[in-house]
Amino acid sequence: MRRLTRHGRYRLAVAAASALAVVGAALVVPSLAQAASTLGAAATQSGRYFGTAIAGGRLGDSAYSTIAAREFNMVTAENEMKPDATEPQQNVFNFTAGDQIYNWANSRGIKVRGHTLAWHSQQPGWMQNMSGSTLRNAMINHINGVMGHYRGKLAAWDVVNEAFNEDGSRRQSNLQATGNDWIEVAFRTARAADPSVKLCYNDYNIENWSYGKTQGVYRMIQDFRSRGVPIDCVGLQTHFTGGSSLPGNFQTTLSSFAALGVDVALTEVDVTNASTTQYAGLTQACVNVPRCIGITVWGVRDSDSWRSNESPLLFDGGGNKKAAYTSVLNVLNGAGPAPTGTPTPTPTTPPPGGANRIVGSQSGRCIDVPNSSRTNGTRVQLYDCHGQTNQQWTWTANRQLTVYAGSMCLDAAGSGNSAAVQIYSCNGQANQQWNVNSNGTITGVQSGRCLDVWGTANGQQVQIYDCNGQANQQFRLVPVG
Ligand code: XIL
Repeated sequence: MRRLTRHGRYRLAVAAASALAVVGAALVVPSLAQAASTLGAAATQSGRYFGTAIAGGRLGDSAYSTIAAREFNMVTAENEMKPDATEPQQNVFNFTAGDQIYNWANSRGIKVRGHTLAWHSQQPGWMQNMSGSTLRNAMINHINGVMGHYRGKLAAWDVVNEAFNEDGSRRQSNLQATGNDWIEVAFRTARAADPSVKLCYNDYNIENWSYGKTQGVYRMIQDFRSRGVPIDCVGLQTHFTGGSSLPGNFQTTLSSFAALGVDVALTEVDVTNASTTQYAGLTQACVNVPRCIGITVWGVRDSDSWRSNESPLLFDGGGNKKAAYTSVLNVLNGAGPAPTGTPTPTPTTPPPGGANRIVGSQSGRCIDVPNSSRTNGTRVQLYDCHGQTNQQWTWTANRQLTVYAGSMCLDAAGSGNSAAVQIYSCNGQANQQWNVNSNGTITGVQSGRCLDVWGTANGQQVQIYDCNGQANQQFRLVPVG
């Protein structure tokens, strides 16, 4: 339910208002959804996705593509968007293989994660021998070229992949040798190249919270967030193969990264012999963390895996669902359903008495949300303090923001407590559209029917701050009318 479209959110708000009109001050209580029968549908119930790596060369195999299209609603190109594939000669870009996967997915309504832009591995030959400013400039040119081609089309990019050693220090590579700032330069370049796509750092062996590499990556993300280096997400590859296995503190790792104000995702999951307990456990850890936005397995059938000798995936070589498939599906189905409601096509009347409105008790003329991205186009939903999405919020006819739930505090999906951002309308207009009136109510001076916030996605709750960085003790909810 956290991934509703603007229209969907609006409809939910209207549905909530309609329900209240009938039953008075009752809350909108999510009803239990039916168990879904595919991974993608099951994940969608809690606002997440379920993805797979796709090898373009296998799409002609109908058994493969049938399972992929049926089960997954996110894909990652296994190799086709890597530097050696997309820029085989310097400044000569080739998107044939990447586009094949993108077009296959897009025509089926499946989203795509971009993987990957800057990496020590799978560099084209011409790049491998480069160094210094020549390499730095080539990296920047590569990011611009590839992101420019896919601008506005992808859900996320793994901007930088695998840049840390196991002990938490930086991996020595030709990219690292261009200067320690190469990662932040990559992210800044990426943000400018496509402001609408989520920018992720991606790595393996960062699942165990007490591991040196995890801590090293954590400190970098923390540093980036504190200095305003653009980063939206951390991808944990989650290869529980090759000797690795699910750590007991995996959920702690996910929630700790998320607390920095980034989304987290499991991006390349495979598990030795497809252990059902590990698959269920890693899925449960994700669904327990509101900002864990989705899971991607690194291939469809065991025979498609880069580690096929470990039979690590959810389908066997014959395309049959394995026990691990069922264990994952069951956890996803138990994750908590999205709310249901009967959409109505037109805005509704002001809510009945008993609703609340937001009051700013200080004289600031704007309200902020801490630590969210200022990038134009990034949006988050408003949540109540219980983490429920904004089906509980709607506009009255005079465009005051009201809340139906009885909660007396207001949170927003977002991140920690430093840099403030403005609240924007759903059209991406900044907060010149919002006024704090002399009586303290917040009104929208345009006719938008939903309210967005620049920032990141789903689940993490933050307080609303005023423009001076004061926390939301300055805003309170009072009964309307
Ligand atoms: C792997 C692919 O699965 C293989 O086909 C290829 O030969 C090597 O790369 N971490 C990553 C992925 O980020 O890109 C890697 O994919 C697996 C490890």
